[in-house]
Amino acid sequence: KKRIILDVDTGIDDALAIIYAVKSEHVIVEGITTGFGNVDAKQATENTLKILDLIHPKYEIPVAIGSDKPLFRPRREPSVDIHGHDGLGGYSLPETGRAAIEHHAADFIIKEVNDNPHNLTLIFTGRLTNLAIALAKDPTIAFKVKELVLMGGALHVPGNITEVAEANIHGDPEAAHLVFESGIPIKMVGLDVTSNTKFGEEHFDKLMELLSEDQQGLKDFFKHIFQFSFDASDNLNEGRYRLMHDPLAVGVAIYSNYVKTEDFYIYIETRGALSSGATLADLRNPQTETNASVCMEVNNQLFLQHYIDTVTK
Ligand code: BDR
Ligand code: CA
Repeated sequence: KKRIILDVDTGIDDALAIIYAVKSEHVIVEGITTGFGNVDAKQATENTLKILDLIHPKYEIPVAIGSDKPLFRPRREPSVDIHGHDGLGGYSLPETGRAAIEHHAADFIIKEVNDNPHNLTLIFTGRLTNLAIALAKDPTIAFKVKELVLMGGALHVPGNITEVAEANIHGDPEAAHLVFESGIPIKMVGLDVTSNTKFGEEHFDKLMELLSEDQQGLKDFFKHIFQFSFDASDNLNEGRYRLMHDPLAVGVAIYSNYVKTEDFYIYIETRGALSSGATLADLRNPQTETNASVCMEVNNQLFLQHYIDTVTK
């Protein structure tokens, strides 16, 4: 089983990723860290705790709250159209008895990595701020993390916040720069692949069919957030689907054969007036030195099939 720490800004697709990781029999979730992004860090934490209740009321997983703003910039307003005001499309989950642990997310990561050298995979589906803080406090963790799988960036395709930048990198470019230059082994699950992860009505019907009655809470939750997402994409005249950005990062951590990768040296643009947060590589020349394995193609049907099978168990 793969031991992971998941860092989230919960968010609809982060919630879908948490459910996938916790339910996967191939993964042990050692902890979840939270930060700002789709919502503020407090809301992301509350959403995370409530989702853990929904999956398994008795399952204990430490949750540590982290950074509520980028390292050096003001926080950008989140996209309410895509995730709703509360990150979960306005769905009201029952109050939770769970609480976050006392430690900051960065300190939790430092301790867990040092206690389990070469044994922990980090999956980041939000800004890289908590990891940048951890690396600044203890740079040696870069060589003790087994792998960092991150949802973020766009190499050959346009961004989703600006023409060139994807939300998780654009949201804290300096943090991303620090992480990409740290020496940590990186797998980048960016828009090159996640923009091909359309979860449509046919997948939704399958999901509903396979969820049993004793999973009614989860069923209602899925129903709400997928309908919210389908309506949101419909409003943009894009058809009815949800992109599974963050679940794919979890999927790739479990089964690397969902994707084809190529190694590049990824530079993070931190200074551009129009291009801040871009993930750039020199595509003209063969890569002599690399810092990331970048996902280039995805087998979406295989991935979504596994997603549905896993979360309905
Ligand atoms: C990323 O941005 C957020 O809206 C999603 O949760 C995902 O992590 C996609 O660019
Ligand atoms: Ca996210």
